[in-house]
Amino acid sequence: MHTFLLRDVDTASEMMRRCYRIVKESMRSMAGYMVKMQSWPGKKMLAKHIWLDAVHADWLRTRTLELRYPRVDVDEDSDRHLIRVLEKLPNASSDAEFLSLVYTVIKPALLESLRAYLAQSDPLDDAPSHIVLGRILPELEMELHEYEALASTLTAGASSSTTAAAQELTGLLAACGGVFGPDRDPGEAFAAYFGRPDYVVPSEGGREPSWSPAVMQVPPREPRNPIERRVWIAIDHANEVWAAETPAALIWAYKGLAWPLYLNAARWCYDEMRHAMMGEQRLAAMGFEIGVDYPMVPDHWRTYSHRGLGSLLLLLHGLEQKGPLNKSKMKLELTEQHDLEGAQDCDYDWADESGHISFGLAWIKAVFPDWSKERIMAETQEIVTDWVDWIKRYHAEGLHQYDGFMARIEGRVADYMEAYPA
Ligand SMILES: [Fe+2]
Ligand SMILES: [Fe+2]
Repeated sequence: MHTFLLRDVDTASEMMRRCYRIVKESMRSMAGYMVKMQSWPGKKMLAKHIWLDAVHADWLRTRTLELRYPRVDVDEDSDRHLIRVLEKLPNASSDAEFLSLVYTVIKPALLESLRAYLAQSDPLDDAPSHIVLGRILPELEMELHEYEALASTLTAGASSSTTAAAQELTGLLAACGGVFGPDRDPGEAFAAYFGRPDYVVPSEGGREPSWSPAVMQVPPREPRNPIERRVWIAIDHANEVWAAETPAALIWAYKGLAWPLYLNAARWCYDEMRHAMMGEQRLAAMGFEIGVDYPMVPDHWRTYSHRGLGSLLLLLHGLEQKGPLNKSKMKLELTEQHDLEGAQDCDYDWADESGHISFGLAWIKAVFPDWSKERIMAETQEIVTDWVDWIKRYHAEGLHQYDGFMARIEGRVADYMEAYPA
């Protein structure tokens, strides 16, 4: 006895296409806002969910194509009102408001619709959709649980403007056709929402306001013992946030590129945030407070964002080319010092970096389509050299403003060496 509705392939493919669009465009908005986000727990959560959502979008896109929908990436006109709504999400007035829009309006609406799709579609004829949605649903539920655990810690979590913005978005989503469409013009009632300027990523990534002001992440002297060497490596790791923000910004700033670029950039973003978390974790285990005992500073962005995102992409790609070699050496070095957790961090980081080199080259070709291979190599080398010179100059001229951090680092290292004598 059938309890589901009969649904032809054309209808199913349009529903699946619209789910793909929702996940893809909300992921792009999350990537854009992630750069601005000051909340450290919020930033880490977004990086992880950006990658999960990109994987979900990939599954939905593939299923849409299987359902005889041949133009899923170019035929955006059919969902243009929905896409316009989602592209305005990063205009939120605070971290709490942005997360509220994504996690109390968009994702719950998607969750409810995917459950309804499963309940109403033929489990044999449309079995591959059931498999795909069956993979997505638990991860989407996990994302919502992770948001709920975080939301209560955000200071502006329950403000009236956040509630009003969520109510406006709920009405707007329904007015433009909801999750399954068909796509509709939501009309003049929402003119103010669409009248807001297009979001542009800030010139440097947001950091927790409670963290100490800092100029640069690299300590102004060499480590004097193996424990300091561990700390220096971990500070470098913790500050890879800029490297997570760079692919995130690319995802937002470049619209309409080939889908694999976005999928890979989402993974790249999450990997770099994991590398930052490795440093945070190592330092926390040694008694260091993040952003207070050591700097957490977007110094790469502060130095080069005025040249455009392409320059940050070149710098990241240039630095990553030495990543596998450096991380494999660090793995050996830390193993010899019996820092097995640190060695394992470097081992997995090394594995991630090998993928990033190909992601970076593909993005450089997309951002600079006219550049020859020789020009890419020359421009990459030029900015890496310039960055190394910047670090040397700031150290030599005493511009590093590291003295306060160095006093705290030396104090923490002394405490650690006393607690764990060699
Ligand atoms: Fe990294
Ligand atoms: Fe990397």
